[in-house]
Amino acid sequence: MTEPSAAARALARLYDLDLRDDPGDLDLYLALAARSGGPILELAAGTGRLAVPLAAGGHAVTAVDNDPAMLARAATRRHAAGRAAADRLELVEADLLDLALPSAGTFQLGFVALNSLFLLATRSRQRRVLEVLAAHLASGGLAAVDIWLPDPDDLARFDGRMILEYARHDPETDHDVTKIAAARHDAATAVVELTSVYEEAGPGESPVRWIRRDALRLVGADELVAMAEDAGLRVEQIGGDYGLEPIGPGSDRAILVARKP
Ligand SMILES: C[S@@+](CC[C@H](N)C(=O)[O-])C[C@H]1O[C@@H](n2cnc3c(N)ncnc32)[C@H](O)[C@@H]1O
Repeated sequence: MTEPSAAARALARLYDLDLRDDPGDLDLYLALAARSGGPILELAAGTGRLAVPLAAGGHAVTAVDNDPAMLARAATRRHAAGRAAADRLELVEADLLDLALPSAGTFQLGFVALNSLFLLATRSRQRRVLEVLAAHLASGGLAAVDIWLPDPDDLARFDGRMILEYARHDPETDHDVTKIAAARHDAATAVVELTSVYEEAGPGESPVRWIRRDALRLVGADELVAMAEDAGLRVEQIGGDYGLEPIGPGSDRAILVARKP
């Protein structure tokens, strides 16, 4: 695994602090895994927030990410989950856009969680994500992709203004952390340029600042369905929440569940 920089390690740790409030999506993937069986492929798996508990739940999981600092945290989490879970979880450092695992064609479930699709911030890359997912599934395997559907008020806030996201204590470092973010939405490209600024300090220390810049291309539910169909998947459900209640007016997520014929 590539040795991550201090900034990359800090940003990976702060990613987990961002997600201290559980998004509540694990039960969805446990239910899909119960439906499909394993092995399971997670693309853009990050720090193993979902992959580790899926492995602990008895499934063979392959978790792919291109950020070694995120994967280092996933490895720590895997170790903490015990020997049996650790044996079932393979961490792969790779760009998912080029992914061609030797086990392609065997996965019973493949998924891209929590808006990760947006980070592949062009339409052609996002289409490629669905193609890679489809190529790695076994015939009859399930694909799931979870995206946020911002409403007009959300988009109106993406005008470049700085917003205080949180002030939190990080128990891992005993640091107080303040996060400020500014986002700018380009309606022509559907791309949101997001800058996240974290300042942290331990008791009596001078603050340290870390900055992350992301480009996120927003995708609507219709476009997600089209991407899945173009990748050869048969769409079975579009949920509007993690309970997979059908999407409708006011839904703030689209969760696509599709099957490889
Ligand atoms: C929002 S995080 C999601 C992590 C995890 N799925 C979760 O739900 O907590 C997105 C992840 O996508 C990864 N990522 C972005 N572009 C990627 C690429 N081209 N190949 C592999 N991973 C990528 C990032 O490194 C990051 O860890």
